[in-house]
Amino acid sequence: MTFNRRTFLMSTAAVLTLPRAALASPSVLRAEPVKAQILPEGDGTTDMLGFNGSTPGPELRVRQGDTLAVRFDNQTSEASSVHWHGIRLENSMDGVPGLTQLVVKPGESFDYQFKAPDAGTYWYHSHNRSWEQVAKGLYGPLIVEEANPPQVDHDITVMLDDWRIEETGALAGGFGNMHDFAHAGRMGNYAKILPSQESIRLGDRIRLRLINTATARVFPIRIEGLAAQVVALDGMPLATPRALEDFQIAPAQRVDLIGDVKSAVDFLFVLRDDIYEMGSLKIDGENPSPITSPIKALSAPDATRPKDVPDHALRLKMEGGAMGGRHAGDDIWALNGISGLKDKPFATFKRGETAVIDLVNDTSWPHGIHLHGHHFFEMNQDGTLGDYRDTSLVDRGASQKIAVVFDNPGKWLLHCHMLGHQASGMKTWVEVV
Ligand code: C2O
Ligand code: CU
Repeated sequence: MTFNRRTFLMSTAAVLTLPRAALASPSVLRAEPVKAQILPEGDGTTDMLGFNGSTPGPELRVRQGDTLAVRFDNQTSEASSVHWHGIRLENSMDGVPGLTQLVVKPGESFDYQFKAPDAGTYWYHSHNRSWEQVAKGLYGPLIVEEANPPQVDHDITVMLDDWRIEETGALAGGFGNMHDFAHAGRMGNYAKILPSQESIRLGDRIRLRLINTATARVFPIRIEGLAAQVVALDGMPLATPRALEDFQIAPAQRVDLIGDVKSAVDFLFVLRDDIYEMGSLKIDGENPSPITSPIKALSAPDATRPKDVPDHALRLKMEGGAMGGRHAGDDIWALNGISGLKDKPFATFKRGETAVIDLVNDTSWPHGIHLHGHHFFEMNQDGTLGDYRDTSLVDRGASQKIAVVFDNPGKWLLHCHMLGHQASGMKTWVEVV
């Protein structure tokens, strides 16, 4: 896939500011048609879907251990639902039509209520026809604050997204396009960051909560102007912070950084022969008394250690797609030869059991595999436990073992978060009894 400046309009990256966060979260999320300024100010607006008047929807903020109670009021003309990505919640609140609830029809509502057990950066998004509804804007950030948050001057949420958009500002059609589904998915031709604030001071210490809300694109990112440490992945704190380097962020993944502002903070999309600016946080003044204490690890997540000898050793093979993918399923993609959700789960676990699942990518495309209701350890080559996350990017031809303690009862999806892949077969489910 190649871009040039004519088709990829990022040179004029304008910044769109999210609605301000309030710790008192709204009690209603109303999905409805909205107009958004996706293209730079002065260019056409875009008809999209959003929550409470905007896309992305409002930032929901709760404290760790608090209960979030939100009525989802569907004022769009499409059936929908809300999934709370990454939260270890009660199965009935997971927002998956056909598995955990009925679809919420136009004009109807559904009351979601759950406790947020882990602090971290999460997000919410439509889980019905998500390849289309998320692309149209039905998503927003969900932040669970630590009881003792790290000391920073600003806590800024930054969503990274792309849109396939006409020069008039209209979203391009063709959401269910099979050609897109069989390749990398619906890639946008315009990309930018959606930060919750636009300016910062020189010398400020900031926390950045990056969320990739794109339906298909893995962003290769370089951040300039910030001396930073990576402190969490997919909401889950790292035991030891890591110095920030160029990184990839797959759809649905999150990266939390804490760093000191050295100059305007630029978000660069790094391609082989080109660099595009996705937006930046501008400098407005200087901090007279910068925080100088070392950047420390966030408090460790509440993770049950997988057993050294797992109860189940499984293999989940990703198959299909363009460029030679073959399988026995009945759609474009398959997992172990099966496309889409069948009556029988991929596996059933007794509560508390450990499974090691080898995610084998036997396709010509990268996939970001997401498990609902749990986090898992990515295993290192030597069998030790690596990062603790909820979405794992597996490159074409590669494999990644994950170790999961299945301790949350219910029916949970396991699927590719390239949402067009999920729509065309790359999904299954597991049951914890
Ligand atoms: Cu973020 Cu099944 O989804
Ligand atoms: Cu995929």
